Amino acid sequence: MKIAVVGGGSTYTPELVDGFARLGTMVSELVLIDPAADRLGVVGALSARIFRHHGHPGKVTWTTDLDAGVTDADAAVIQLRVGGQAARISDETFPLDCGCVGQETTGAGGLAKALRTVPVVLDVAERIRTRARPGAWIVDFTNPVGIVTRALLDAGHRAVGLCNVAIGFQRRFAALLGVDPAAVVLDHVGLNHLTWERAAYVDGVDRLPSLLHDHLPALAEDVDLDPGVLTALGNVPSYYLSYFYAHDRHVRAAAGAPTRGERVAELEATLLEMYRDPALTEKPALLGERGGAYYSEAAVGLIAALHGHDPDGVHSVNLRNDGTLPFLPDEAVIELSARASQAGPAPLPVTPLAPDLAGLVAHVSGYEELALDAALRGGRHRVYRALLAHPLIGQHEYADTLTDKLIAAGAQHLAWA
Ligand code: G6P
Ligand code: MN
Repeated sequence: MKIAVVGGGSTYTPELVDGFARLGTMVSELVLIDPAADRLGVVGALSARIFRHHGHPGKVTWTTDLDAGVTDADAAVIQLRVGGQAARISDETFPLDCGCVGQETTGAGGLAKALRTVPVVLDVAERIRTRARPGAWIVDFTNPVGIVTRALLDAGHRAVGLCNVAIGFQRRFAALLGVDPAAVVLDHVGLNHLTWERAAYVDGVDRLPSLLHDHLPALAEDVDLDPGVLTALGNVPSYYLSYFYAHDRHVRAAAGAPTRGERVAELEATLLEMYRDPALTEKPALLGERGGAYYSEAAVGLIAALHGHDPDGVHSVNLRNDGTLPFLPDEAVIELSARASQAGPAPLPVTPLAPDLAGLVAHVSGYEELALDAALRGGRHRVYRALLAHPLIGQHEYADTLTDKLIAAGAQHLAWA
C-alpha cells in the first residue's frame, strides 16, 4: 500500500513515521510531500532511517511535486499548515485586543486558520482525486479538522477527519486503570476540539465514575480546568473546552506571555537540528513536547481499518452527522467513536446529549457552517457573520473589530481580501 503524506516535511512527521515503522506492515511506500525542500530533505532522510531501524521493508520517499507524490496512492494523509508558525502566532494574538481568546483552532484564530486553509486543502484533495487510486481515502489532520472535513465531504471526497484528543484520553485512562489501551472504549462525543468523554467502557463496564472518583485532581489538571467543572458535568471535557469554561483566565494569562506558536517555532528549530544528525534513527524524546502524541497510532489504526484490516477497532473520527445527533443538520460534521471498514466510518450508538453539551455543540456547529461559507466564498460580511455566531465572540462590536483585524492579518493568504 502506498501512503502519501501531504505536509510531510513537518517536524511532526517522525511521530507518524514511527507509527508506520512499528505497526504499518501494510505499507510498501510512504511518500512525504512538501513544498519546503530543505526541511523535507531533512525529515525525509530521518524517516527513511526510522524505517530501516525498525527493519520495515517498505521504502520512504519524498518529493516537492504534489501531483507526482499522490499518483497511485492508496491513502493520503493531509497535515499541512498554511502560513506556518507565523500565521499561527497571528491567530494566537489578534483576538486578545478584544478580550477574546487567541488560539489556533478556537474562536477568531480558528476562523482565520479555516479561511486560509480550506481552499488549499480542497485543491490538494482535487489533485488526489485525479491521481490517486480510485477510492483512495483522505485522512485529514489539518486543522480546524471539523471545518476542513466538512469542506472535503461537501466536495464529494472520501475523507475522514482525525484528531489525537480521544486516543490521548484512551491511553491516559488505560494507564490509570492498569488495562490495555485497546480495552478502553470511549463515549467520546461533540465536535472536533469540542468533545467530552462521557464514559470509558472496559469489558462493557463504564469505569469513568471510578476514574473521576479516584483521580479527579489529576484529570482536572490534564484538561486545565477546575475539578468542580468535571464533577458538575460528570464527564471529562477535552482541554479545548477550557477555552470556553475558563475563557477569561486564558485571556489574562496570555498578557505578556509568549504564545504557543512561538514556543513551537523554537522547538521546531531545535528538532530540525537534531534530525540532521545521521546517527539519529528514532524520533527524539523532545518531539513529545509537541501536542501530537499518539497521532501516529490513530492514523495507522484508522487507515488499516478503512482498508478492512481492523473490523473491531474503535476510532474517534470526524464524519457526517447523518442523524446521529438529532439536533444538528445531517450535513454537519461531528466527532465521535466509530468503527471503520472499506465502506467508511460508522458511529457507535450515541445516547442523548445533556442540554448543556447539546446547546454548546449546536452553537459551535452553527458557527462552523458559517465559517465554511466564509472560507469558500470570502467577503467581509461572511467573516463578520461567522464571528458574530461564535459563542466566544458574539457581540457585534467585537465581531466588527475582529473582522478587520483578521482580514488585515491574513490578507496575504486570502485570495479575495
Ligand atoms: C493536539 C491537537 C492538534 C493540534 C496540536 C497542537 O494534538 O489535537 O489538533 O494541532 O495539539 O500541538 P502543538 O505542539 O502544535 O501546540
Ligand atoms: Mn486535534
